[in-house]
Amino acid sequence: MNVLVLVGSLRAGSTNRQLAHAAVDHLPAGVDGTLFERLGELPHYSEELDHDDVLPEVARDLREAVADADALLLVTPEYNGSLSSALKNAVDWLSRPRGAAAIVGKPAAVLGASGSPRGAQWAREDGVRVLRIAGAHVLADTVGVGAAFQAFDDGRLVDPTLDARLRSLLTRLTLEAETVRDAA
Ligand SMILES: Cc1cc2nc3c(=O)[nH]c(=O)nc-3n(C[C@H](O)[C@H](O)[C@H](O)COP(=O)(O)O)c2cc1C
Repeated sequence: MNVLVLVGSLRAGSTNRQLAHAAVDHLPAGVDGTLFERLGELPHYSEELDHDDVLPEVARDLREAVADADALLLVTPEYNGSLSSALKNAVDWLSRPRGAAAIVGKPAAVLGASGSPRGAQWAREDGVRVLRIAGAHVLADTVGVGAAFQAFDDGRLVDPTLDARLRSLLTRLTLEAETVRDAA
């Protein structure tokens, strides 16, 4: 089983990247987590680019990575009260082609980290909403990390309660993915 992880902050020292790695560490035994590292290369979605003869290679690769994954995990900072444009752009690419989009029916969950105490709450809510509209089977619950610049120590969440919530969410995502896989 494989969970594909999309991190919405493109900077190297990103707290959301740390959160993504902490999440991967909490996946149950036998479940792999893979970060898609090329979101920054993805062109802005355009219907003119969305044809087989001109489709950007990175968009094709992203679609294939999601199609091959058992579940999807979005990890987002909050930018101006919403999810990062890198993630919204990825969801837009994944929501097409209509009728054959890789994201449709895919189990998904959202995490977010921000400097504010609210832990990217609006970004997480918007992440759930756009994933749902794109057709993913997204968990309504999310995990947010506030005061993110102080929240990690050696790659792990300092707050044990939050860490337990993260583990629980990933367990539920994996169970959902197993259910979908077994039904297929
Ligand atoms: C353009 C921009 C807009 C931001 N807007 C918000 C915001 O609306 N709410 C918030 O809590 N933090 C906001 N922040 C702070 C980011 O959420 C914070 O820097 C975040 O933790 C960065 O994530 P990273 O460490 O993964 O890069 C903003 C930061 C930037 C650069």
